[in-house]
Amino acid sequence: MDLFDVYPLQPVKIVRGQGSWVWNDRGDRYLDMYGGHAVISIGHSHPHWVDRIENQLRQLAFYSNSVELPLQQELAKMLGEMSGLPDYHLFLCNSGAEANENALKLASFYNRRRKVLAFEKGFHGRTSLAVSVTDNPAIVAPVNQGHEVVFAPFNDVEALNSLFKEHEFTAVIVEGIQGVGGIRIAETEFLQALRRHCDQSDTVLIGDSVQCGYGRSGRFFSHDFSGIQADIYTVAKGMGNGFPIGGVLIGPQFQAKHGMLGTTFGGNPLACAAALGVLEVMEKENLIEHVAQTGAYLMEELGRMPELQNLRGRGLMIGFDVPESHKNLKKVLLEKEKVFTGEAKGGVIRLLPALNVSREEADVFLEKLQNALKSC
Ligand SMILES: Cc1ncc(COP(=O)(O)O)c(C=O)c1O
Repeated sequence: MDLFDVYPLQPVKIVRGQGSWVWNDRGDRYLDMYGGHAVISIGHSHPHWVDRIENQLRQLAFYSNSVELPLQQELAKMLGEMSGLPDYHLFLCNSGAEANENALKLASFYNRRRKVLAFEKGFHGRTSLAVSVTDNPAIVAPVNQGHEVVFAPFNDVEALNSLFKEHEFTAVIVEGIQGVGGIRIAETEFLQALRRHCDQSDTVLIGDSVQCGYGRSGRFFSHDFSGIQADIYTVAKGMGNGFPIGGVLIGPQFQAKHGMLGTTFGGNPLACAAALGVLEVMEKENLIEHVAQTGAYLMEELGRMPELQNLRGRGLMIGFDVPESHKNLKKVLLEKEKVFTGEAKGGVIRLLPALNVSREEADVFLEKLQNALKSC
């Protein structure tokens, strides 16, 4: 059997990782400023995370959600405290798309409506409802069509004012910083207007924090910068540092009913141990503050490089546009300088390193970037 060829692959075989570094099969070392697509939060194979998983594996890897699993409670408690949402409830699942699917479903159960408001260039996953609220027709199959979705321009308060007059929505789903869309920050005024409209119309505000959440922006949720609180937050990526886990953080106004949501693997002991390992390291190493400081440093230094256009971002979620003259930058960074970076449509480079990337590693990156800019 061969692999179903859906991923455009970079010609590198990665076989090992440690902290912010990965190695290929020939022993060459690469600096990972991409974090395996914003997934690596506490660094590749962090020793505490490895211990947590190893110990759990010897104890109990899996049991179903038909019994009490104390690690789930532990995770919910710690996540509630660290995210500043102690009165929210946690539903555990396995990926970002699944988290969004369940969040949207929950909103519809809550207010019995059907129509969703989503935003241009937003990305929310590839399951049926999640992909239908994602602004990319190329990945929507006919079988995913038929959901009632309205797409609005991002950061356009005027558009919101008229759309909320015309429609009755079950939910609005919004990233605090659009990731796949090219690192576009939701403005304070925009998120505050959304919150106001949702309050006035009993619409559920869903903060998709799958990529921009979990400390990556320098706050637990990037939506926090606007001083608003979403009714539901969805998380995944950095939550498990590579161990697949997702979560839906659900406001106290939502009533749970047995059978309403469910999944076989969601919240299994191994995944909970991995997620607890991540939170423990984030707390002990004061990572959110570290992200804010390292991010500010990177932004300042990148701001001195005239070739980089429209530099933007928060914390360790940084993007810039690459001019036509340097359109090979990502390739040169990878092949010559041995640095992984992310990209987005339209010549955008995305930086999504581990939250504990050090100042020294940031300096190594800046030097390699300078070299790459020169040899483009
Ligand atoms: C903002 C956002 N939401 C949802 C998803 C989907 O997550 P997953 O690939 O884990 O299903 C992604 C993935 O890139 C994302 O960036």
